[in-house]
Amino acid sequence: MPRPPLTSAEYWDLYKPYRAEGEQPAPTTDRFEWTQFPGHGPGPEVLGAPRHALELGPGEGTDAVHLARLGIQVTAVDFSAFQIERARRWWSDVPGVRFVHADVCEFLSRDTTEYDAIYSMWGAAWFTDPEFLLPLVAKRLVPGGVFVFSHAEPGPGTYGPQQMRGKWLEGRERELTVLRWQYAPGVWADLLKRNGFTDVDARIVPPPGNEPLGTLLVRAEAA
Ligand SMILES: C[S@@+](CC[C@H](N)C(=O)[O-])C[C@H]1O[C@@H](n2cnc3c(N)ncnc32)[C@H](O)[C@@H]1O
Repeated sequence: MPRPPLTSAEYWDLYKPYRAEGEQPAPTTDRFEWTQFPGHGPGPEVLGAPRHALELGPGEGTDAVHLARLGIQVTAVDFSAFQIERARRWWSDVPGVRFVHADVCEFLSRDTTEYDAIYSMWGAAWFTDPEFLLPLVAKRLVPGGVFVFSHAEPGPGTYGPQQMRGKWLEGRERELTVLRWQYAPGVWADLLKRNGFTDVDARIVPPPGNEPLGTLLVRAEAA
């Protein structure tokens, strides 16, 4: 019988795993960048001045820790047990940041906190069906609170769920594919407005130099 495909959470257990010899040292947290290019594009100012922020899909947790060190209270939710355990191990001594092991939709459905900012940096926001995610995000923001997320610039004609295979997963026996919801800026803007968001700014941050792909960056406010 063929082995079943990995669940999405298992897939993400394999992201930046560093399972080699011994404990990996914690990465630096000196940068908070929406693009895939160090030192390029806007930083945390896009979030305004939140007191309490929620990150969807923090992975290693460096962005959440960066914000916590600026004095922002941060809750960071990831459904990969591996990512959450490692983030807790690395950042246990950082005040103001909390790592929660949960699927973002499940967490947003049961959470009662209202956040000033919800954000996702190449994180769960583009790996979750927006039809489910956006109404849940809208409910958990204070009026005027911001939702900001980034993902890779979509190719021409890219629309909706696309299959993604991670390059770090090559050579494995089992199927390793997840879906990501990629849309052009105008489509994201429509989706957000349909879900009650206002002041939507959805754009492509152009890449530096001769790099082929820019970054899609979206910012919207809760009514
Ligand atoms: C590409 S990684 C990005 C991690 C981090 N933001 C970064 O920039 O390195 C995507 C992260 O989103 C998490 N994720 C994907 N779907 C999720 C979901 N439905 N609920 C919670 N976390 C999710 C994955 O476990 C993974 O840690």
